[in-house]
Amino acid sequence: MSFSAAATGFVALFLSMTVGQVEPDWSVKYDPSQICALTGSTVKIKCSYTYPYKIHGITTKVKTRLWFTKGNNQVPVDLKKDSDYNGRIIYNFTDNSCNLTIKDLNLRDSAEYKFRFVTNQPDGAFTGLPGVILTVTDLRVQVRRSEMQTELKCESSCDPIKPPSYVWFNKEKKMEEQTSSILVSVRDGDRFSCSVKGHEDLRSRPVYAPTFTSANLMTSGQITEGRSVTLSCSSDANPEANYTWRKKNNQSIVSEDQQFVFWSILSSDSGLYYCTAQNQLGEETSGPVSVQVTYGPRPPSVSVTPSGEIMEGSLVTLSCSSDANPEANYTWYKEGEEAPKASGQNFTITNIMFKQRGNYYCEAQNSRGRCNSTVTVNVVLAPRNQVAAAAAVPAVFLILICLFLWILRKTKVWKQQSRPAAGQVPSEQVIPAEDDVAYSVVHFATKQEELVYSNINPTQSKRHKKRKEEEMVEYASVNCGRTRTAARTESAQQDSVEDPAALYSSVNKPGRNIRETPSGL
Ligand SMILES: *[C@@H]1O[C@H](CO)[C@@H](O)[C@H](O)[C@H]1NC(C)=O
Ligand SMILES: *[C@@H]1O[C@H](CO)[C@@H](O)[C@H](O)[C@H]1NC(C)=O
Ligand SMILES: *[C@@H]1O[C@H](CO)[C@@H](O)[C@H](O)[C@H]1NC(C)=O
Ligand SMILES: *[C@@H]1O[C@H](CO)[C@@H](O)[C@H](O)[C@H]1NC(C)=O
Ligand SMILES: *[C@@H]1O[C@H](CO)[C@@H](O)[C@H](O)[C@H]1NC(C)=O
Ligand SMILES: *[C@@H]1O[C@H](CO)[C@@H](O)[C@H](O)[C@H]1NC(C)=O
Ligand SMILES: *[C@@H]1O[C@H](CO)[C@@H](O)[C@H](O)[C@H]1NC(C)=O
Repeated sequence: MSFSAAATGFVALFLSMTVGQVEPDWSVKYDPSQICALTGSTVKIKCSYTYPYKIHGITTKVKTRLWFTKGNNQVPVDLKKDSDYNGRIIYNFTDNSCNLTIKDLNLRDSAEYKFRFVTNQPDGAFTGLPGVILTVTDLRVQVRRSEMQTELKCESSCDPIKPPSYVWFNKEKKMEEQTSSILVSVRDGDRFSCSVKGHEDLRSRPVYAPTFTSANLMTSGQITEGRSVTLSCSSDANPEANYTWRKKNNQSIVSEDQQFVFWSILSSDSGLYYCTAQNQLGEETSGPVSVQVTYGPRPPSVSVTPSGEIMEGSLVTLSCSSDANPEANYTWYKEGEEAPKASGQNFTITNIMFKQRGNYYCEAQNSRGRCNSTVTVNVVLAPRNQVAAAAAVPAVFLILICLFLWILRKTKVWKQQSRPAAGQVPSEQVIPAEDDVAYSVVHFATKQEELVYSNINPTQSKRHKKRKEEEMVEYASVNCGRTRTAARTESAQQDSVEDPAALYSSVNKPGRNIRETPSGL
């Protein structure tokens, strides 16, 4: 009994000794269980595992070993096969070691990492739970600016080293301060960054005032009135900059957005624009971006020098000027003539002739359209021709008297009609008003064939005179042709001015009425 009891006790002891020494339990151990690591660094997770060597006489063989963060125990996603960790995972497995190395850490690597192994035994699979909590952090410099000073603070979501100790840099130069917060005075070109001791190569992104600030036109092609136009400001800055827009020669801020949008641009919006990028460490203003709103020529303003009645033989300059973008070119025409008279803003006629009187129009043209205005050139006789006319009068008289005498002699009324009252017949034609004389003489002097016409038809001559009076009415008519978009943005007022018919009647009708009223009474 005692033997058997002793034997049983021995067997029990033997068995328990065998189990305790030879048959380890299922286990996975991680060291440490929580890790804080910097982005860009490499982390090594120490790991060991155990399992029973034999179960029911069957020798345990490990068939599969892996680390995972995604999936579950039954369907884990092996880190080696996870594209997020492409080439960054090193497994160094032995019978009891399950170390994991992850290179070039990034913030998305933060997770719970678990080791799992599967054996040939029924239900012989094991996952080490809980896993290792890995937190990947970057270092960030927070900037706090007050009136007097700028404070920089090195921040991270966990402490990669304990106790925390910092190393600050300005550009590549190590600074003296070793605390998490430092006070600095900022100069041009400064770039501050921080790191932790022992990891000086893993620095924070530097903080700096805006640089490479530039203003850009985002709208391509011709900028026409009414179009939507976007200006965009870009800049390199950390912390991120805010933006303000100004127009040249005006301190007022026109926009506080990075993108400055004209929803429907006006020609008055043309100009140079600048943007300023600003953050807590400073500001920088861009170069100008030019916005040129194009539009067809506005109704040209036309003028004649000298003004009023122009003596024949004078030097006359017709000037034309029209607001347009791009700048207009100018062509001068005479009304009723196809061929252009001149090109250019100024049309100079040296030694103007009477026959050159009349209406001239100037056409301003650019790529967006064309527009014309008319001006009247009123030429009167030069004094030297009037002198010639005066000299011509006695000669004409002489001829007429001879003719008269000849007629008298022929009709034999010389004695009865000794008084000159008989000169009635040709009086209207032969002794015209001085103006009419001058008129006819001009033609006499310039064109032989017109002499007949003007002399034998005084009523015709009077009609000419009346037309001359009409020509003296100063007016300019305006015609503009534009693209649809340009016309759409014109004000109603301008449209009415542009109506040639409306303008003509408003100038001429009252004049005609005044002339007709007295004859009607
Ligand atoms: C695994 O670790 C051993 C010992 O530390 C080393 O000799 C071996 O090169 C490592 N293998 C890999 C793949 O890193
Ligand atoms: C796993 O890491 C531990 C601790 O660094 C080391 O002693 C052991 O040799 C490593 N095992 C392998 C297989 O590299
Ligand atoms: C400057 O711009 C503001 C806003 O656009 C405007 O109201 C003001 O008239 C402009 N001043 C000058 C001098 O152009
Ligand atoms: C832009 O940022 C600077 C610096 O932080 C600040 O002083 C300023 O008020 C900001 N301006 C705007 C329009 O937000
Ligand atoms: C046209 O004449 C005006 C003055 O009469 C002058 O100021 C202007 O420069 C001239 N323009 C051209 C293109 O010659
Ligand atoms: C004036 O400009 C228009 C449009 O740019 C062009 O087609 C035309 O040939 C120019 N005329 C002259 C006389 O330069
Ligand atoms: C002046 O412009 C109008 C409108 O485009 C056009 O109809 C007219 O023919 C132009 N006049 C001349 C003489 O070219």
